[in-house]
Amino acid sequence: MSEIVFLNHEFIDISQANISITDRGFLFGDGIYEVIPVYQQNMFRFDAHMQRLQQSLAAVNINCTLKPNDWQVILNKLIANANNPQEDHSIYIQITRGSAPQRSHYLQNDLTPTIFARCSPSPLPSIETLRQGANVITHQDCRWDWCYIKSINLLPNTLLCQLAYSQGAKEAILIRDGNAIECTSSNLFIVKNNIIITPPKSKNILGGITRDFILELATQQQLPFAEQDIALAELYQADEIWFTGSTKSIVPATKIDDRIIGNGNVGPVWETMIKHYYAAIAKLKS
Ligand code: PDD
Repeated sequence: MSEIVFLNHEFIDISQANISITDRGFLFGDGIYEVIPVYQQNMFRFDAHMQRLQQSLAAVNINCTLKPNDWQVILNKLIANANNPQEDHSIYIQITRGSAPQRSHYLQNDLTPTIFARCSPSPLPSIETLRQGANVITHQDCRWDWCYIKSINLLPNTLLCQLAYSQGAKEAILIRDGNAIECTSSNLFIVKNNIIITPPKSKNILGGITRDFILELATQQQLPFAEQDIALAELYQADEIWFTGSTKSIVPATKIDDRIIGNGNVGPVWETMIKHYYAAIAKLKS
């Protein structure tokens, strides 16, 4: 089936979308990306995603001339062109530094960035599916120090995700300096004594838009929460563990490193939060 994508200021069929082998994204992983969920043709938290995109671009010094207003027009066109526009989608944006004639570690800032965007079907899991719970493992965080940048260099993330899957788990919780900080493609929450706890934003984690949304819902619903470090021992003793992201919503874990979490079922605070989360999204659709 044909699919229209956006590449370097053109809307073209995906089969015609090619980039140069001298692109620094291909040679060095020199680029950044963004993922925006789309519910019934509406981009969720567009401004926050644009802000994070600009933050990533600035952090790696790539100069992309497209501004949020331009992106709005481009992405809405991709959404309108989706094969089943009424379904839930996610938009993937990738911007690399561009093509240089020679492969050189030295950064050439006069290059024309390569800009790509695509809108793909991405249904949120049902609450019933999520309620089955997931296994998670822990692993030392072997990524770099600037994880707040949504860099396309995801080899540690993909290898650790692979490791988790090979052990029957859905995510790996990353441990840095004795603290559980986030996961390979999601943020981390625990619940202890009915308090929702998530690590504070720092350079070591990606500031998740879903994370912010959950904290907003907690404020609205007067559910107690704290942004504080989670030591490995606290993680193991948590009543509930969740991992969160734009394409996942809030996934409750029921087993960690083969230990049962709480009583082995998804917890009551997750039940409350997921109800509010899905209700807020349903409202966007109505
Ligand atoms: N991943 N932490 C990491 C390392 C991530 O890669 C992601 C998202 C998140 C959650 O961010 P958000 O709530 O804004 O989706 C946290 C995306 C979706 C991905 O890599 O495809």
